[in-house]
Amino acid sequence: MAASASGRGQWGSQLGFVLAAAGSAIGLGNIWRFPYVTGQSGGGAFVLVYLCCVVFVALPVMLLEISLGRATQRNPVGALLAVRPGTRWRFLGYLALATGLGILSYYAVIAGKVAAYCASYARALTGGGGADYQGTAGSVVFYFAFFLVLTLAVVAGGVQRGIERWSKILMPLLLVTMLGIIARGLFLPGSLAGVQWFLTPDFSKIDGRVVLAAMAQAFFSLSLGMGAMLTYGSYLSKQQDILRCGAWVVFFDTLVAVLAGLMIFPAVFALGHDPAAGTTLTFQVLPAVFAGMPGGTAIGLLFFFLLGVAALTSTVSLLEVVTAYFVDERSWPRSRAVWAVSAATFVVGIPSAFDLAGHDPFSSLRLLGQQGFLGLMDFVWGNLSLAFGSLMLCLFGIFVWGLPRAAAEIASTSPFFARFSRVWIFFVRWLCPLAIAFILATLFGL
Ligand code: PHE
Repeated sequence: MAASASGRGQWGSQLGFVLAAAGSAIGLGNIWRFPYVTGQSGGGAFVLVYLCCVVFVALPVMLLEISLGRATQRNPVGALLAVRPGTRWRFLGYLALATGLGILSYYAVIAGKVAAYCASYARALTGGGGADYQGTAGSVVFYFAFFLVLTLAVVAGGVQRGIERWSKILMPLLLVTMLGIIARGLFLPGSLAGVQWFLTPDFSKIDGRVVLAAMAQAFFSLSLGMGAMLTYGSYLSKQQDILRCGAWVVFFDTLVAVLAGLMIFPAVFALGHDPAAGTTLTFQVLPAVFAGMPGGTAIGLLFFFLLGVAALTSTVSLLEVVTAYFVDERSWPRSRAVWAVSAATFVVGIPSAFDLAGHDPFSSLRLLGQQGFLGLMDFVWGNLSLAFGSLMLCLFGIFVWGLPRAAAEIASTSPFFARFSRVWIFFVRWLCPLAIAFILATLFGL
């Protein structure tokens, strides 16, 4: 990333954007959330619906989000105001900021758990006991804070330098490690039932709840609907190809999700776990796989380390969105913005940390049918708010910015897109908003 004339940073190359945006997209959403939601939603049928949501709904929305960022070169609030000064649409930007903070507050708790696993595998490797992590409330809060500080350090230094360089080496290494773990899982007796369960759709399992979960997972996994892609797109130069960048990000993200499924479900079936176990699924199954594997402790350490890095590139994008607002719109020094936002996130995240440690402070409340405070936060911010934000972004594109203008922004650097811009406009005008609105309506029983 190099400084541009406006004094804002810019990606050093198209690859820089793809790596950073893929880094934002690939994370716990693929390896923790996708398997547990798939497990609760019945397997293959969910996977199929998910893939359709990615291609037909999420990809068109992603192009809109990136193009708005590149066209305005601003943060979410600034971008909406740049298109229409003084507009109430800025509240959509504020919602994006709240969503970023909301997601970060529980995401970093789970990421902290990954760091804790890393530490216990490292200890086991050096001969200090088992590789298990039984988190007390104090230790969960500690690792949560630790992960926030890591995130803060990267964002304070400017996203670009660290991430462009590290992702180039560590992301491919994560893929290779996952392939190794998949190969191992497939040798476990009984694992093929898991492959079959994961890949064969049983259409009778598809209902409104499954479609909602799939669509929300697509937005979550691709970091859509809260301005992360918009903010990263704002660091794209006017020469870079939005369609190609967006398509690569979607490809890598989906690849990692499918590989995560192939890593988890064969082992779930072979080792007799319950696929519908919920948020703890990945953390129950993988340690069991590593325990029965030659060199398992070292592989466990490597895997949890790489997963931690993948989570870090996602938490960085969440924090960056909120930080960019305070830096651009409120002229705060970067370091003050980063510290203030992280401190607020820490406070909001404490109940989630207690929940993860088994002491849910709000266990008597059963809000929106969710289990536990962390599950509730994930539902409100990770499902509802991202879907709603994406819907509103489409409406902003249709009624305020103008989809032909958005299409021209994308087409200006993509002759290929230019030939299909009408198709894209049709999707963003009709299919995406109607599909999202329908799903939100089903959810509220309308
Ligand atoms: N996409 C990230 C993941 O899958 C999570 C995320 C959501 C990041 C929304 C930014 C914005 O892990």
